[in-house]
Amino acid sequence: MKTALLLVSLTFCGLLSMAQQPFVANMDESKVGSITLPNPLQKPDGTIVKNKKAWEKQRLYWLDQFQKVMYGKMPSKKLPQSSQLVSRTEIMGGKAIQYVWALTFTGKHSVTVLGVLPNKPGKVPVFLGLNFCGNQTTSTEPSIPIFEKYVICNEAGQFKNNLGQAESRGAWASRWQFEKVIAAGYGSITVACGDFEEDLPTGYRNGIRSTLADQLGLKAEEWSCIGAWAWGLSRTADFLETIPQIDAKKIIVHGHSRLGKAALWAGANDQRFAAIISNESGEGGAALSRRNYGENLWRITNSFPHWFLNSYKDYAYKENDLPFDQHILMSLLAPRPLYVASAMGDQWSDPRGEFLGAQNTEAVYQLYGKTGLGTVAFPGLNTPVGQQVRYHIREGKHDMTDYDWGEYLRFVGEIVKPVKNHPQH
Ligand code: GCU
Repeated sequence: MKTALLLVSLTFCGLLSMAQQPFVANMDESKVGSITLPNPLQKPDGTIVKNKKAWEKQRLYWLDQFQKVMYGKMPSKKLPQSSQLVSRTEIMGGKAIQYVWALTFTGKHSVTVLGVLPNKPGKVPVFLGLNFCGNQTTSTEPSIPIFEKYVICNEAGQFKNNLGQAESRGAWASRWQFEKVIAAGYGSITVACGDFEEDLPTGYRNGIRSTLADQLGLKAEEWSCIGAWAWGLSRTADFLETIPQIDAKKIIVHGHSRLGKAALWAGANDQRFAAIISNESGEGGAALSRRNYGENLWRITNSFPHWFLNSYKDYAYKENDLPFDQHILMSLLAPRPLYVASAMGDQWSDPRGEFLGAQNTEAVYQLYGKTGLGTVAFPGLNTPVGQQVRYHIREGKHDMTDYDWGEYLRFVGEIVKPVKNHPQH
């Protein structure tokens, strides 16, 4: 009896001290050690996929694995959705039109979509990405409604109790670079991620995982917040298909950090996205989970349990048991153009792990006759490398900057070209 008690209390103290120990991220490359990655082309029966056709089947197998283990199911039911134009404003001295639309799903959940399109006739390709802290933070235009739900931003003077104030207008405009995007002949579309699901462990309660649970036929715990955001990106794409001025075959999905994780997951599930951009998406995004560098699986599933299925945390410190790694998530994007970007000052996201994640998609891109990153070494600062898959590491901190946008525009300009001087139709 005494021994049992002693054991119980020792175990209890052990657990307590583990929980109390602050997490110290490994930032020493020499301590990462060597890792063995699962082969995207290896089928469950051990044989190797040799062509595109076989890969298409294998692709579904992997998608199912990611749904079962990490991000949860994706609703297969299509819901009726309707839209309403809230405002149309000429901006940038007449160079662009800014639209605000309300998008409603089965009358049960509404989100606000912001669009900035070139003010000229003809269809344009668009960038589509979620924003962190409300549409009003992407531009100083006063006609954008202030987002009224919880956001993670809380800078004094701009936000109060995690709610955007008038002073938050344009707070994150540098991450959107609307003028630059318009000048290059593209449009830009965004929705606050919290309009689909607030970024909190309790966010599912008033997010689409609850409001639309019956219609979608999925319980909240069967999927995840990242799943809900990715679903939101696809539903926004459905809506964009109804806008005559948008070339819906050229929707480039992008996202920064946690929203980059959502962009990758959206691109994997929805092959309509013509190109995918992951800006510093890190752990649970482009970075390989098997590399213990920067944020790791234990830390992310403890800090942000709602981003993934509950059971994903069981792989903490057992990453080698995962059936996949993040290079396989990105392989699901092939043969579409993929850009993975890191920042030197953002070691938390494991830049080298993001690079290796992108590089290990090569075998799948090659099945389509495309060169992905090619056999390149980890590049120097501000030196993009690769072809159909591109990578850069820029100087500076965790952010999405003017430099990043310059490179993304150059990349899609080569592959997802905007139409110049398009005829009226
Ligand atoms: C945290 C989190 C990252 C995430 C980042 C962000 O740092 O640990 O996983 O990518 O926030 O979204 O900015």
